[in-house]
Amino acid sequence: MDKFIIRGGKKLKGTVTISGAKNAALALMPATLLASGKYQLDNTPELRDIATMSRLLQTMGVDIERRSHSLHLNTFRVNKFEAPYEHVKKMRASIYVLGPLIARYGYAKVSLPGGCAWGPRPVNLHIEAIRKLGAAVDIDQGYIIARAKRLKAAKLAFDVSSVGATGNALMAAVLAKGTTIIENAAMEPEIVALAQFLMKMGARIDGISTTRLEIEGVDALHPVDETMIPDRIETGTFLIAAAITGGTVKLERCKPNHCTALLAKLEEAGAVLQMGDTWIKIKAPRAVEPVDVTTAVYPGFPTDMQAQWIALMSIAKGSCMVTDSIYYDRFKHVPELVRLGADIELSKNVAVVKGVKKLAGAKVMSTDLRASASLILAGLVAEGKTEVLRVYHLDRGYESIEKKLQQLGADIRRVSGQEF
Ligand code: UD1
Repeated sequence: MDKFIIRGGKKLKGTVTISGAKNAALALMPATLLASGKYQLDNTPELRDIATMSRLLQTMGVDIERRSHSLHLNTFRVNKFEAPYEHVKKMRASIYVLGPLIARYGYAKVSLPGGCAWGPRPVNLHIEAIRKLGAAVDIDQGYIIARAKRLKAAKLAFDVSSVGATGNALMAAVLAKGTTIIENAAMEPEIVALAQFLMKMGARIDGISTTRLEIEGVDALHPVDETMIPDRIETGTFLIAAAITGGTVKLERCKPNHCTALLAKLEEAGAVLQMGDTWIKIKAPRAVEPVDVTTAVYPGFPTDMQAQWIALMSIAKGSCMVTDSIYYDRFKHVPELVRLGADIELSKNVAVVKGVKKLAGAKVMSTDLRASASLILAGLVAEGKTEVLRVYHLDRGYESIEKKLQQLGADIRRVSGQEF
């Protein structure tokens, strides 16, 4: 397993290009199961999660070829309608094949994902949605087994706003007979991107970008090409990298509109921001002001930026509270940040962060994707040498993170598993 060695203290400077959104790609790729033929997905990042989704779709008979950042998919020969445990346990987003398979082929066998490194993440809403759309669903030996002749429209009202369940319900409803309503739908940019992709394929969807979607089922869809939206979490992570190191960085090919909650918090923390439609320039605060954050569904502050925010607040000139209201257990980074000298106390889903003057390098362990990002950020400002072990978590969701940071002047290098 690779590790990163970081020598902190370099102020980041320069320009970085933001990659395509992992979570949009993970929704659009399975959506190609909804119509036979050839698709080209441009600006698809090269990441482990994308490779995992590719392998899963390949086991179903999808032909996939990557040419640089374009993914070419041919769904003509799909002949297997199963997502085995080996794939789903690696990546929960594999559950996204459930909706398209049941809608297009009338059968789906998808492994239950099980727990996550940072707590339980149920899929009850996904199952309820396809049941309401007329599928017969059994849970057998850890698998969701769904059958339906043709799905029928239904009124769905989610108790909790869920990105994945909204995506699955949407992909199922586009081919169902009649008009489906989804109340309390997620409106994260990745769901909007999925809905727009489905519209391009011939779906009829009203209410995109709102919490009420109205989907008039059609008999068939057709393949199309699409370009992935920019990754708002990578954007946020680089903004914090600039802020935490006292740097000045321009981010290109990003979408500031998708990051408004974070941008407002960065300004409160003292950062100076300039932006256009597709770029942001950030000048770090002279001294980071402490700013409370509570995660919320979009357009609120994303849970996927909570760990990175705690890293930034750990060097603020005062105390603040960071609350995760989406995932109560998502704090595996806290003990690791404390190893780097941060002063953080955890009480249920609230982290009380007391800013310290400096962090000091140490060996720390990656536990999940965003937790790992927060350790890199802390390492960039910690005095001396920080080693971040098990960086494969980062490779799931950040494209060439060390190269991008090196271009901005960071002292970070990857040491491959064989070298130590
Ligand atoms: C997606 C993102 C993930 C992000 C999360 C929240 C992808 C591939 N992943 O995950 O990076 O952290 O949104 O923004 O896009 N819930 C239920 N029952 C369900 C499903 C969800 O109770 O059947 C709850 C979850 O426990 C959680 C909340 O709903 O408290 C939101 O989770 P959800 O939006 O579903 O997350 P994912 O789609 O898994």
